[in-house]
Amino acid sequence: MNNLSIDIKNVYGFIPETEINSLKAESVAKLDALKKGDGEGNDFLGWIDLPSSISEENLQTIEKTAARLSAKSDIVIVIGIGGSYLGAKAVNDALSHNFEGLKEKRDAPMMIFAGHNIGEDYIQELTDTLDNYSYSIVVISKSGTTTEPALAFRILKDHLIAKVGAEEAVSRIVAITDGSKGALRELAEQEGYETYVIPDNVGGRFSVLTPVGLVPLAISGFNIRELVAGAVAMEERCLNKESFEENPALLYAATRNALYRSGKKIEILVNYNNKLHYVSEWWKQLYGESEGKDGKGIFPAAVDNSSDLHSMGQYIQEGERILFETVISVTNSEHTVHVPKDSKDLDKLNYLAGKRIDEVNKMAELGTTLAHIDGGVPNIRIEIPEINANYIGQLMYFFEIACGISGYMLEVNPFNQPGVEAYKKNMFALLEKPGFEEETKKIKERL
Ligand code: PA5
Repeated sequence: MNNLSIDIKNVYGFIPETEINSLKAESVAKLDALKKGDGEGNDFLGWIDLPSSISEENLQTIEKTAARLSAKSDIVIVIGIGGSYLGAKAVNDALSHNFEGLKEKRDAPMMIFAGHNIGEDYIQELTDTLDNYSYSIVVISKSGTTTEPALAFRILKDHLIAKVGAEEAVSRIVAITDGSKGALRELAEQEGYETYVIPDNVGGRFSVLTPVGLVPLAISGFNIRELVAGAVAMEERCLNKESFEENPALLYAATRNALYRSGKKIEILVNYNNKLHYVSEWWKQLYGESEGKDGKGIFPAAVDNSSDLHSMGQYIQEGERILFETVISVTNSEHTVHVPKDSKDLDKLNYLAGKRIDEVNKMAELGTTLAHIDGGVPNIRIEIPEINANYIGQLMYFFEIACGISGYMLEVNPFNQPGVEAYKKNMFALLEKPGFEEETKKIKERL
């Protein structure tokens, strides 16, 4: 079976191969620090051997919960924000039919998200919609104290109780949170919800292969065993191979740091398959929250092509030269569609007749890559054979381990997120949360 591969030859025109190779020792040392657990943030390294430590028993327990909830739900509402929702959303969207919502019959509950924003219209329109469906709730918060999901859960819990009664509601709620502390843990225990634990040593953005991702994905009918198998294969490949050629994570981390050091401050993750849109959103959180600190970090951006070639394409081609691109290229699409021949050819497309739509897409990809290189944008290419659970598992673990290596190369602690607290403090002060009286006074003086 072919696997994920990485190609950096389109960087050499900007940074010589020898310079990237000169970062080999540094990147290997950072991988060693991750493996030995002697670097910064080493109390958050539980994700490193997580794939291979998921047991048959773990999977069976999750599948049992999934079967129970799936049997009585049209919809599973996943409540969470940041790392507590983006992993499940990324896998869900990558592996779902493009028009899932319009399909008349599904074999498993459809996944819908809440608590990832504070939109009043969103929550009202969601509860209005849920009036007509049978649903269950998976509420996820590692800290158990995050405002956005807590707010959504309060409203949706009341809606569910009003719809099915208090006793049945309890059986339709699963809480995924800390093993012992936080408001959600206390609430779940008092109300008697089924719970799963997020390990202490796994941060939110590295948690897709914990119950945070696996429980909602299993309820919604996805093949979590294949997702895990893909991640296990990548764990084996990235932890045990030390040559650049064989270890895609070392190569990616070294190359993006070489580009950053040469002044390329923005990395754009590019896809040519819209199902990967939320993989990019997940990646943006993983890299943005891990690396953007101490006044440093590559800014992670993303585009969906060819759509965004008609918007962001102009800037990428001719704007400020501080960009590089990382393309996720998918070798095979799932379906085959040929361009039909038209006897009138009024649209002048007969030169494409007989070709596959995917061939046109691939030529858009190749043409864009060459144009952007000519325009001064280096290009890293990651290729997966197709979009399936196994390759998405490989891709996610690859990005996680490369993120750890890359963060250490940048000399930041990739596993904390102190900057996330600043907005929360202001919001609590403005909302006059008890305990924030001093901050409330100060912030009101600024207004
Ligand atoms: O990666 C992270 O740690 C964050 O993005 C968190 O996942 C996010 O803030 C949600 O936190 P919690 O799960 O504690 O509600």
